[in-house]
Amino acid sequence: MNPFNLIKFTTFLFNMANWNIVFQLKLLLLIVFVVPYSKATRPSLFHPFGSTNEPQDSSTTWAVLVAGSNGYENYRHQADVCHAYQILKRGGLKDENIIVFMYDDIANDPNNPYPGVIINRPNGSDVYAGVPKDYTGESVTADNFYAVLLGNATAVKGGSGKVVASQPDDKIFVYFTDHGGPGVLCNQVFIFIYLE
Ligand SMILES: *[C@@H]1O[C@H](CO)[C@@H](O)[C@H](O)[C@H]1NC(C)=O
Ligand SMILES: *[C@@H]1O[C@H](CO)[C@@H](O)[C@H](O)[C@H]1NC(C)=O
Repeated sequence: MNPFNLIKFTTFLFNMANWNIVFQLKLLLLIVFVVPYSKATRPSLFHPFGSTNEPQDSSTTWAVLVAGSNGYENYRHQADVCHAYQILKRGGLKDENIIVFMYDDIANDPNNPYPGVIINRPNGSDVYAGVPKDYTGESVTADNFYAVLLGNATAVKGGSGKVVASQPDDKIFVYFTDHGGPGVLCNQVFIFIYLE
């Protein structure tokens, strides 16, 4: 520490001692704000993944997972969606509340050294097993994505027909992985979503 900084630091300590009461008050205020905030937010953040512990809250967490691209060269997008599914599933979400969009052309692509398996890190375990194939192939469209989010089952074309049938207190987690740029989410063929 150079002498100048040392002086600044000593002055700071001195001021702190002088204003000890003010400082403590500030600290107290900070604690008053921080405690209720963290108490309020942490359960709502983690609660969806452990809802059985809190029966008084009847809200359901939904997840919409979208890999917008296709092709083995875009392996990562579908692998990420599969991995996201496994995390949510482990956390307690039910398949009926998880809606997956993925082209589904990776696991059995001839380039895949582990046929029928998708991994999301080198030597990782299979993240493909059990993933619901709600919207695959040509049913991976922007229109179906909107219909699913809006809970409009009649607007869906192809796929499982599963939509977010949410209630007012439900939570919806959306994970969309694809290429994009400012104002645009896209994949090469199926989805172009523009910000208006
Ligand atoms: C993956 O497994 C192979 C064979 O066991 C090993 O040679 C390689 O170092 C591993 N790679 C990583 C990133 O763990
Ligand atoms: C659901 O989609 C259908 C078909 O596109 C449309 O006619 C209907 O108005 C939509 N319903 C709602 C509630 O938006």
